[in-house]
Amino acid sequence: MNESIDSLMNEVRRFPPSEEFRAESVVDASIYDAAEADRLQFWADRARELHWHEEFTQVLDWQPPHAKWFYDGKINVAYNCLDRHVEAGNGDRVAFHWEGEPGDQRKITYAEMTAEVKRLANVMLGLGIRKGDRVAIYMPMIPESVAAMLACARIGATHTTVFGGFSPQNLRMRVDDADAKLVITVDGFNRKGKVFALKPTVDTALEAEGHNVENVLVVRRGENEIDWNAGRDIWYHEAMADAEPEHVAEGMEAEHPLFILYTSGTTGNPKGILHTSAGYLTQAAYTHRIVFDIKPERDVFWCTADVGWVTGHSYVVYGPMANGVTQVMSEGTFDTPTPHRPWQMIERYGVTVFYTAPTAIRTFMKIGREYPQESDLSSLRVLGTVGEPINPEAWMWYRDVIGGGKTPVVDTWWQTETGAIMISPLAGVTELTPGSAEHVIPGIEIGILNEKGEPVPQGQGGLLTITSPWPGMLRTIWGDDKRYRETYWEKFGDKYFAGDGARIDDNGDIWLLGRVDDVMNVSGHRLSTAEIESSLVAHEATAEAAVVGASDATTGQAVVAFVILKSRFEQTKSVEEAEAILRKHVADDIGAIARPRQVFIVPDLPKTRSGKIMRRLLRDLAEGREVGDTTTLADGSVVKAIQEQMR
Ligand code: WTA
Repeated sequence: MNESIDSLMNEVRRFPPSEEFRAESVVDASIYDAAEADRLQFWADRARELHWHEEFTQVLDWQPPHAKWFYDGKINVAYNCLDRHVEAGNGDRVAFHWEGEPGDQRKITYAEMTAEVKRLANVMLGLGIRKGDRVAIYMPMIPESVAAMLACARIGATHTTVFGGFSPQNLRMRVDDADAKLVITVDGFNRKGKVFALKPTVDTALEAEGHNVENVLVVRRGENEIDWNAGRDIWYHEAMADAEPEHVAEGMEAEHPLFILYTSGTTGNPKGILHTSAGYLTQAAYTHRIVFDIKPERDVFWCTADVGWVTGHSYVVYGPMANGVTQVMSEGTFDTPTPHRPWQMIERYGVTVFYTAPTAIRTFMKIGREYPQESDLSSLRVLGTVGEPINPEAWMWYRDVIGGGKTPVVDTWWQTETGAIMISPLAGVTELTPGSAEHVIPGIEIGILNEKGEPVPQGQGGLLTITSPWPGMLRTIWGDDKRYRETYWEKFGDKYFAGDGARIDDNGDIWLLGRVDDVMNVSGHRLSTAEIESSLVAHEATAEAAVVGASDATTGQAVVAFVILKSRFEQTKSVEEAEAILRKHVADDIGAIARPRQVFIVPDLPKTRSGKIMRRLLRDLAEGREVGDTTTLADGSVVKAIQEQMR
C-alpha cells in the first residue's frame, strides 16, 4: 500500500478549471475564507438557503458525541425537494428522465413528482403510518422508490432502504432492528435481461413471526407472478388511484429522524446509521451544488448510485432534489442490452454531470473506449467519483475518454456516517491532481492523527478524523448509542474516527489510503469481514473461517475466504464442491455482492499466540505476495501448509 501511495504522490500533472469554466462557476475560492471566518455562521447561512416552516435561532448544540443542528427550527424535507420548486414556477422542469432496462422511458416533472408524493403520503397515512414510524423500502431504481422515500419524509416516517440485492435474512434483520410497520417493494424488476423477483424475498423475510409489519405495498414493475397475502399486501397503483390528491406538508423538528441506513462495520451485525432532517439536507444540497457546480436551469445530473446506498440518498434524492435539478435515472445494469447504454443515455438527455464509482470506470476501461466514442458526450461538463480511491490511470481515462480531455474530475470522499461529501475538489475552483481528493469542503475540519491522537507531520500517513461536528453527521446508531460511542468516538474523544487512513502532501492535497479496520470495499460497497466470516461459520461444513479483502483490478477489493472444513464434511465432498457450496451459501445468506471471489479450503489458519487470526498474512497470501513478518505466529508451519493448499 505504502509503495503505491508513494508513487501516487509523485503525481505532477495538474488540471485547473478552464477560464471559461471558472467564470461560470457557482462559487469561487473565497468560499473557503467565508467558512473559515465564522464556521457556524457559514453553516447557518447554508441552512437558510432551504425553506423553513419555522426559522431556527440556534445553530449548534454539541455535547460530544451528540450534536443538534438548527435545532429550534422546523422544516419539511419533502417540501424542500418538491413543493418549493413548483411554487417557484418550476413545476414543469423534469425531475427525472428515467429508463427501464428494456428501453421503456418515462419523464417525470417536479409537479408530477410532487403530486405522486402527496398521494402516496395519503396512502401511507391511510395505512396507519404516523410521524415517527419506520418504513422499510426494498426497491430497485424506479421513480416510485424516490417517491416512497419522499413520502416518508413528508409525513415524518423514518425510512430504511434495503438494497435490492440483499437476502431475506438481511432484509429481516433490518426490518426487525428498525421495527418497521410497512414494507414498500415491487413484484420484480429488470436486471441483465431478466425479471428479478423481489416480492418473494419479502414474503420469505416476513414468514417467521415476531415482526410488526402490518402491510406490504407492492409497485407493479416486473409483472412477474407473485404470491399474494390478502389483508397484508396492497397494490401501489390501486391504493394510489383511491387516494386523496392533496396533502399539506407540516414542519418537522430539525432533528426529526429522516432515515436509518444499515452499513457494515467491523463486527457481524450491520449498524443502523441514523440521519436527521435539517442538518443532513443542508449539507447534501450545499455539497451537491458546490462540488459539481450545479445550476438547476443549466444542468442535467446523473448519479448512478442505487437508492439502497447512501450515495443514492444524498445525490439522487435529497441533494439534487433540494436543488431542483433535472436528473437521469436508470433501471438495470450498464451493459444490458449493450455496453452502449450509459453513453447513449448521456447523449439522449444531454447529461452535464456524471457521478459514478471507480469500479464502474475500470469496467468501462476494460470493455473499451470504442463504446463511449460512438456517442456524443460533449454535453458533459463535470465528472465525479465516489466509493473508493481512484487510481490516476482510471482518473485520466475518465477525463480523456468520457470527458473529452476537458472536464474536471472530482473525487469525493465521504461515508454513510458523514451523510454528505466531506473531502473533494470543487469543480469550478480546484486545480486537480489525478488520484487525490484534494481538500476539505468549506465548513469541514479534519485532523490526521497517529495512534496516540497526535497530529502527524505533513506528508505522513495517519488516521483520518473529523475534528468538529458537521451538519450531515450521523446522530447515533439506531437503538445502540453505546456502539455509536465505541465505534466512532472512543479512540479520540471528541474527534470522529472515520476508519480510513489519509495523508496530506506538500501541496496540501489529501490522499485517502483505504480502510484501517476490517471493513472491505468491493465495487464501492462496504462489506465487513466479520459478517462474511459469521455467515461461513454458520454453514454446517465450516469449522473455522477467515475473510480478507484482496486487491482486485476491477472491483477494488475482492472477498477471499480461508476455510477449515469440519472433518465429516471434508470426507464426503471434494475441495471444489466445498468451495462452490460455500460461495453460494454466502451469496444466499447475505447477497450476491458478498459472494467470495475465492474460497480456499485450508488445514489451519495463521494465528498469534493469543489466538488472533493474522489477516495481514492472509492478505499477502491472497494477493500472491511474499508473506510479511511471521515472528508473532504461534505455529510457523501454517503459512507453508496454506500455500501448498492454494496451489
Ligand atoms: C471509502 C460511500 C477513497 C472509504 C459514500 C470510506 C473512499 C467508505 C472514497 C465509505 C474516496 C468512499 N476515496 N475512499 N473518494 N469514497 N471511500 O459508507 O473507505 O458506502 O470509509 O459511503 O468508502 O463507504 P460508504
